[in-house]
Amino acid sequence: MRPNTRLQMMVIAGFAAAVGSCVNDPVQNTRLSALGDDFPAGLEETAYHRPGQPCLTCHDEKRGSSSAKFAVAGTIFWGTCNIDKTEAADDKVRNERCDLTPVRDAEVRLINTGGGRACAVTNCWGNFTFPTNDARIEFPFLVSVAKKGLDGQYLVQTQMGGHISREGSCAGCHDNPRRADSPGQVYLFAEDGRTGKVGIPPAARAVMDKDRTFKCPNEEPLRTCE
Ligand code: HEC
Ligand code: HEC
Repeated sequence: MRPNTRLQMMVIAGFAAAVGSCVNDPVQNTRLSALGDDFPAGLEETAYHRPGQPCLTCHDEKRGSSSAKFAVAGTIFWGTCNIDKTEAADDKVRNERCDLTPVRDAEVRLINTGGGRACAVTNCWGNFTFPTNDARIEFPFLVSVAKKGLDGQYLVQTQMGGHISREGSCAGCHDNPRRADSPGQVYLFAEDGRTGKVGIPPAARAVMDKDRTFKCPNEEPLRTCE
């Protein structure tokens, strides 16, 4: 290692120790700083935080800086975010073209090659997590996302074509904007080609009407799924 590289690493490690929330791993620190400062300072770090971010950057069993460990985690949004870099810098365009409405009560299913299945339900910020101690969550696996309507029938069901072989963060691949090498944020809306979106349940809207805090004051206990 060249001396100046080592010096840089010491500086990074020193910075990490100073902010107190990072491990002394330059690769990990690069991942963390790549998240930018999208997450408003002062908000609590809870199950409702950082929708759309690569959760395992912090929640990975081995390298995660958070004490909470997950095998797989992510966020389900209603719509897409099809903007390029220049557009992303413009708040107005971003607000108009990026649908960050979270999908609550979406069912995320993992099916591994041995046939083992695991299912998690999203909370009111669209976030979901799978625990690290569940033997059914074994890479590689297929993933599907579904949502029931108010009548209890499935409203939408989508399936990812390829399988996931080791990346536990959906956002590790589903990075915005949608482009040749990224499918964009994970979304779950039905499109009829004429009117655009259909079937957006009022529950998701209600979340948006609130004051956009990262809490769900009236959230009932999470549903389970098979
Ligand atoms: C930049 C780091 C970081 C990212 C990215 C991140 N989290 Fe967290 N998360 C934390 C920290 C820190 C806590 C507070 C618990 C602790 O002190 O470790 C936390 C807490 C949580 C909790 C509560 C855990 C408990 O036991 O109370 C959940 C659930 C959670 N995060 C889910 C997610 C999900 C889902 C994502 C991705 C959409 C995500 N997190 C992204 C750092 C992060
Ligand atoms: C290793 C990279 C990778 C990871 C990790 C990943 N995806 Fe995907 N996903 C893709 C790619 C590439 C596509 C588009 C092609 C396809 O469907 O396979 C896709 C497509 C999808 C689709 C279908 C989208 C459509 O337009 O119909 C869904 C739903 C989906 N992913 C959900 C998820 C969820 C949920 C997670 C996390 C549990 C996840 N993905 C993790 C790469 C990934």
